[in-house]
Formats: sequence, C-alpha cells, structure tokens
Amino acid sequence: MGSTQKPLSVRRSEQRPAYHFNPAAHWMNDPNGLVFHQGVYHLFFQYHPYSTVWGPMHWGHASSQDLVHWQEHPLALAPDEHGLIFSGSAVWDAENTSGLGTAEQPPLVALFTYHRLRGPQEAPDSPCETQGLAYSLDAGATWVKHPLPVLNNPGLKDFRDPKVFWHEQSQRWIMALACTNRVSFYSSLNLREWTWLSDFSQNAGEGVWECPDLFELPTGDGDARWVLLVSVTLGGPQGGSATQYFVGQFNGQDFLSEHHDTRWLDWGTDHYAGVTWSNTGTRKLLIGWMSNWRYANKTPTEGWRGSMTLPRELTLQRVEQRLMLCCPPAAEVESAFCEPISNLKVGLKQGLVSSSGRFKLQLKGPANAPWSLQLGNPANGTWQLSFDDQRQLFVLDRSGARAQDFQTELSDVFVVPRLGKAPDIDVNLYVDTHSIEVFAENGLLSMTHLVFPDAPWDRLNLEGAEILSAKIATVCVNGTR
Ligand code: FRU
Repeated sequence: MGSTQKPLSVRRSEQRPAYHFNPAAHWMNDPNGLVFHQGVYHLFFQYHPYSTVWGPMHWGHASSQDLVHWQEHPLALAPDEHGLIFSGSAVWDAENTSGLGTAEQPPLVALFTYHRLRGPQEAPDSPCETQGLAYSLDAGATWVKHPLPVLNNPGLKDFRDPKVFWHEQSQRWIMALACTNRVSFYSSLNLREWTWLSDFSQNAGEGVWECPDLFELPTGDGDARWVLLVSVTLGGPQGGSATQYFVGQFNGQDFLSEHHDTRWLDWGTDHYAGVTWSNTGTRKLLIGWMSNWRYANKTPTEGWRGSMTLPRELTLQRVEQRLMLCCPPAAEVESAFCEPISNLKVGLKQGLVSSSGRFKLQLKGPANAPWSLQLGNPANGTWQLSFDDQRQLFVLDRSGARAQDFQTELSDVFVVPRLGKAPDIDVNLYVDTHSIEVFAENGLLSMTHLVFPDAPWDRLNLEGAEILSAKIATVCVNGTR
C-alpha cells in the first residue's frame, strides 16, 4: 500500500558525503588549528555541538593519517568567560619557545579568537574580539587554555582568525589577523606576547575580511613568492562569500602584492575560509569549508550540516606574466577511488555513471571547439558544464541539481573565464553526494559547489566537440570514518 518512497527528510539524513569530511552530527563551519604532527593531520573546526545551525562556537576535532579517512574526537575547546571560540590556527612549538611545555615535551600551541557576546547596553559595533591561546602536551588530545587573552583588541569590531607560522628568515612567529577590511601582521618570540608589525589592504569591497593565511611557495624557476589568502564575506565571483589571494613579497614586516587585479582561489559558490596545515615541510596543503554564508544555515541536510572541501595542494603556475595560485586535490585523495570502471570511447554521447552518484570523471577536449557535459537523474533536470570556445569561458549550470528545498538566492548559472593558454582543455570532476568540485586547465581553475539532487546521478551526456579522452573512477570508500 502507498508509495515506498521515503519522506525527503529521512532520505536527507541518510545521504552523507562519501569522501568529504563532515561531523557525525550538528553544525560545522571553518577548518581551524590545522597542524601535521607525528604523522597525523589534525583538523579542528568551528562547531556547534547542540544544533544544526550556527551558534555558540566550540572547536570540534578530527584527525587523519591519509587525508581521506577521518576519526572524530571529543570537543577540543569550549566557550568560557572570555567568549565563544572562533577560528584560529595551531603550530608545533618544537623549541618550546612558549615555555608552555618542556624541551623533552614541547607543546602544540593554538591561537584562536575569543568572541564575547555583547550585552544589551553595548553598541552593536563595540569591540568584542580578542585572541586567546591554548596548548596541548598530549599531541592534540586535550588542551589547556591560557587564563587571559594574549592579544587585546585595539578598538575594532572585527579582529579575528589568527593564523600563525614560524618565519625562518627573521627567526620569530608571525600572526596574520583579519581586521575588518585589512590584514594586520604581528610578531612574537614566544607565541604569548605579540607586537604589531604592519597592515595590508587592497581590493577590499563591502565584505568583511576573514581567515587570512600567509605562506611561501616556489615559482618553479628557482624563485619563490609569498601568497596571502583572505576570505571575504560578500562579493565573491558568484555572489556571497569566497576567498581571494594575493601574490607578492613578505620581508618579515610588510606584505606587498605584485598585482592589482582581484584573484579568486576558487570560482564556485562553496569554498570558504580555506587555510593551510602547518608543519608539512615544503608541501602546502589546504582545506576549506564547503558552503557559502548566503545560505549555509539552511542547506537541506538533517541531523548534521556542513562538510569540508577535498584537501588541496597549493602550487604557483606562471601564465604569461602572471603567477597564479592552483589548488588541485592533494595526491592522497586518489586513494578514495577504485580503478576506472569504464574508459569511455572517444565520441561517446551518452553513458551511465556510478549508481551511487559518487565518482571521478576526467575529460580532455580541444580549446577551439564548444562542448558540454551533463549529469542527469530521473528526478531532476541536468547539471551542466559547458565550454564556450568563442568567448573562452566555462559555463556551469546547477539549476537541475538543486532540489526544491535548496534555496540559494544566487544565480544557478556561473560563468568562469578560462585562465590558461593550452591547446586542449582538461577537466576533472569530483562528484560526491552533495558536491561537485570541477578542476580544469591543469589545476589553474577550481570551481567548488554544493548540489542537492533528489536522486543520485546515473546518466552522463557529452555533446559538441570531440572529447579526446574520458575516464570514470568509482568511489571505493563510503564515508570518511
Ligand atoms: C568565517 C567566520 C570567522 C569566524 C568564524 C565564526 O566563516 O565568520 O571569521 O571566526 O567564522 O564561526
């Protein structure tokens, strides 16, 4: 009797990402405290342990040895009399410069923002953010908070998200801090006392700057540059929040950008607050929160809300005179996939994809002819990525990948300029239950976005230009735990 179809909400609670980190329950936003230590990648995160919408922030904790399988741990940090625990970073204080451990047992040190809720008498823009510190002597399992904030507020409404690293050349710790529409840099010899160094601001729109990160990358020709990441709450390339980057020089005091144009780390709607792991040697690995503040609190999931992007490895690539930041998936991600189930024949127009709707697809086509690629299922329209060779643009349309209960208030069609110059265009798609990450042009372009189809993708259609090669691999993990 009746339909065997389960109500949508039940199906939503069962539908979990297969290979993207998400907490077992409740709300998650930014990655925090990313540190690699004793063979383990730690991923702390903004967490509301009692609700599926944003609220009093704690630090949740997960760890992984391979960046694919994650184990969730007890809460790391909870609010106290100084405020809620907002975003921040963690470092391995190997020389015990902080004095919080011993030479034999040096600490992991986390710097984070305390956000104190304003009282009813306080002005809505009164300063309420300071920087706090906590340390761990048991490899991140438990944390002891320093009794007082280590950096007081100079009078700013927005003063948050400390990202700390050891600056080899000047032999001191540097902190990048988001201050309304600029990044302030501070230095310290012991992680507890901080001195202001300089401010950087450029191309600041109406959004607030958040979650900065500063690191050095090789240019591939024997040289190196410093890259500054800044997440902005408004004005992203597709609307809402997104992450900008600047390429330039850092001399231990000032950061100087070497370009004036606005550059995006990712051109999709759902890549925010991405920062890098500390203590990973010459590799720079990043993970971001896969959502957009425009609709993050109402994405259609049940019992949990929020997942991370795939971990990415950052590199610089030169395109003519410009040094561009690339963020393709870290090599470790490949272990989530089995051998290709099908090598699609060149010229194939239609095919079936993995019935679980979770797979990886690689394509290559010429840059001087149009093509389009569609994913479909019996319940929705199609998700489509096309290449407009006349205008040298990618056009991504998620209208058919959006169940009625996913209201984004943004356009469903994203237009993204081609950034490279190669004669062929390569495209890699990482499709999971609720997301599609598109990487094109040898890693130059990344477009991350959430999708909430009513049923898994089971059809693939390729149209237009002759596709030079196409390969599909299925996911061989089910859940990141
Ligand atoms: C970025 C952000 C940070 C802040 C945190 C609060 O998404 O707004 O600036 O520390 O989230 O959860």
